[in-house]
Amino acid sequence: MEITGKSKIMFVLADPVDHVRASAVLNAYFAGIGEDVATSPLHVRPDDLPAVVGAIRHMNNVVGFGVTIPHKVAIAALLDEISQNARLIGAVNFVKRTRDGRLVGDNMDAPGFISALLNRGCTISGKRVLQLGAGGAGRATALAMAQARAAELWISNRDPVKAQALADAIQALHPETKVTAGADTAENFDLIVNTTSLGMLSDDPLPIDVSGISNTTVVYDIIVNPPVTRLMVTAAARGAVTIGGKAMLDEQMALVADFIRR
Ligand code: ATR
Repeated sequence: MEITGKSKIMFVLADPVDHVRASAVLNAYFAGIGEDVATSPLHVRPDDLPAVVGAIRHMNNVVGFGVTIPHKVAIAALLDEISQNARLIGAVNFVKRTRDGRLVGDNMDAPGFISALLNRGCTISGKRVLQLGAGGAGRATALAMAQARAAELWISNRDPVKAQALADAIQALHPETKVTAGADTAENFDLIVNTTSLGMLSDDPLPIDVSGISNTTVVYDIIVNPPVTRLMVTAAARGAVTIGGKAMLDEQMALVADFIRR
């Protein structure tokens, strides 16, 4: 689609920038739904972030910008407002530029994660869920599952200290969900979510022993690339319903699109 003066402009701020794919994904998404929105990667070094954000305030055809490594935390201090979710997750991944030029930091990970599940007819309320991983993305998904009133949330991680720290943080926010660090079996969970990076490379081991997975388990792997991971293939062979990271990404796009239409 041709970029004109009528196009709505977005950026993805990153350093390094070579690996950034979010802008291409956003462009494909908006082209697909016939909306005149163009997104460009912007290579912004950490020291230059305040100046770039200051300049974007004056760019009246910019509707927002994505934020990725290494700016997801530092950006918060430069904005006018931060959504509650971005504050709780401790990271901003999208900044909305309102019509009056205000910059509002948000995090689309948690709502995108939940929407993709709901689209598949999976609810979390009252369920027993296992999360693998306790990194940045894992913080958002754990919070989302507690917000969605999981009955029990188990968090397992290579570094158990991080699993415990995340479990404690989520438990303090959501006393109604029983949050536990640990769990090395996949047995008796309604939902298993992989937020580790295991599965991105073809020779990665599975992130968990899959013998406990059955046709009553939902397995959600938030890895985007490859779109179908070995965990998903193995779980599907055991009869599980599987969901991939592309669905979560698409829901995040839909949230951005909703904001832009306002
Ligand atoms: P992201 O922002 O994608 O969540 P991250 O914050 O670096 O990235 O988190 C990566 C997650 O994958 C962590 O849970 C990490 O485990 P550690 O906290 O122990 O580092 C997990 N992970 C990465 N490589 C792993 C591996 N080889 N085996 C098991 N877990 C791994």
